[in-house]
Amino acid sequence: MDDLRDKYLGQVMAAVDEAALEQVRLAAIGKKGEVALKMRELGRMTPEERQQVGPRLNALKNEIGSAIAARKAALEDAALDARLRSEWLDVTLPTRARRQGTIHPVSQVTEEVTAIFADMGFAVAEGPQIETDWYNFDALNIPGHHPARAEMDTFYMARAEGDDRPPHVLRTHTSPVQIRSMEATGAPTRVICPGRVYRADYDQTHTPMFHQVEGMAIDRDISMANLKWCLEEFCRAFFELDGIELRFRASHFPFTEPSAEVDIRCSWEGGTLRLGEGDDWLEILGSGMIHPHVLRSGGIDPDEWQGFAFGMGIDRIAMLKYGIPDLRAFFDSDLRWLRHYGFGALAAPTRHAG
Ligand code: PHE
Repeated sequence: MDDLRDKYLGQVMAAVDEAALEQVRLAAIGKKGEVALKMRELGRMTPEERQQVGPRLNALKNEIGSAIAARKAALEDAALDARLRSEWLDVTLPTRARRQGTIHPVSQVTEEVTAIFADMGFAVAEGPQIETDWYNFDALNIPGHHPARAEMDTFYMARAEGDDRPPHVLRTHTSPVQIRSMEATGAPTRVICPGRVYRADYDQTHTPMFHQVEGMAIDRDISMANLKWCLEEFCRAFFELDGIELRFRASHFPFTEPSAEVDIRCSWEGGTLRLGEGDDWLEILGSGMIHPHVLRSGGIDPDEWQGFAFGMGIDRIAMLKYGIPDLRAFFDSDLRWLRHYGFGALAAPTRHAG
């Protein structure tokens, strides 16, 4: 019995892994193991012998069993230690260099425009890009037969067959947000509405989707003079140039009366564009006094209230300010272009930087 004990306890301690340990278990206390065979011999013993040997064999079986369990736990601990040592990693090492994303010029300029007009008391409003033809046209004093509808190269949405209601449109300008804002807040009001607009047009200065910002101020005695001051103030702040010169050129829009297009003085000398000097003029926006029909469409009494509105191309003024030559590249998602013309996340626009 003592020989058996020494032999198997020795083997248990010598086992180097779980498989070896299992071999020992089977050989010692498995069903056909040596201890089990000895137990079978009990049947051939006298009752006295049996009473003596039986408990000792059981004790031996238990002892070997616990030795195996203890050895197994020790092996598992050692394996875990080894794994922890081999999978160790230095959390103080520097990280891999990260590519930094940039802010798209359209986003940057939208923020700049918003910040400048916010300083002048304008809130920001937004409207849907899929509009009814009422908001996009009729409410803005552009009736069905009006040539402006054709001029705008409108994208029409499809209607189900047999549905003869007028189709929705992709808004061709941000002016429908004028009406939605009038409905939402009434007068007096001062809002700008930046967003995407759509026209079927494509060349170096036109893309089927582009960005506009609408501006609108309604009060009891708003005049063309307020419009002029407001836009000049904006351009000086936006282009960061005191010498900015604007030209108000009489024009026509169905939704404003009188109407003016606004050009900015510039020079193309030597192939580079310089603002505020030279003899050329570049158109940057359309504007005017809101037509009484339009105020009425928005639920505002034109005998009591009046106001101005303007619509400016965000992409256009971004190209001018940052010297970006081709509009189409704005929407190509070319990473090289974005890294070159994009802005760092911390280049937050503020009116009071300079
Ligand atoms: N909606 C006009 C356009 O897209 C611009 C505009 C807006 C003109 C407001 C006058 C007043 O061309």
